[in-house]
Amino acid sequence: MGRNTGWAGALGVRLFTFLLLPAFAAGSSGRTESDLTNLVLQDCGSCHGMTLKGGLGPPLRPENLERLPAEAIAAIIREGVPDTAMPPWKPLLTPEEIDWISRQLKAGTLVSPQ
Ligand code: HEC
Repeated sequence: MGRNTGWAGALGVRLFTFLLLPAFAAGSSGRTESDLTNLVLQDCGSCHGMTLKGGLGPPLRPENLERLPAEAIAAIIREGVPDTAMPPWKPLLTPEEIDWISRQLKAGTLVSPQ
């Protein structure tokens, strides 16, 4: 009896791990936060300026984004702005990555303050 319970318990733990792992892997693109920081400074920076102070696109410093909640910023990044140079990023970035970028833009953590 004791042995049987132990065996069933061990199998239960294994099944649990097996079922959980794919859930964690799903939706992750494998990009690290440092990959995303480089993407924002280089790809977004090609239009918004390497220090996000503006160029072809408007500046993306926290003081420039005060009127936009993080969710509105995420929607702009996801869908782009029609009839402007701002492209939609949803084919390239996961929703989690877009949310992370929006929060960093609001907080100003990707560039040094000046
Ligand atoms: C090809 C040029 C280009 C690239 C690349 C680009 N943007 Fe833009 N973006 C624009 C332009 C132009 C606008 C202004 C659209 C308008 O007139 O409303 C804009 C607007 C925005 C806005 C709204 C700003 C505001 O104050 O209304 C956000 C936020 C934004 N971009 C974030 C990003 C992020 C994040 C990336 C990279 C993932 C990115 N953009 C890449 C051109 C670009």
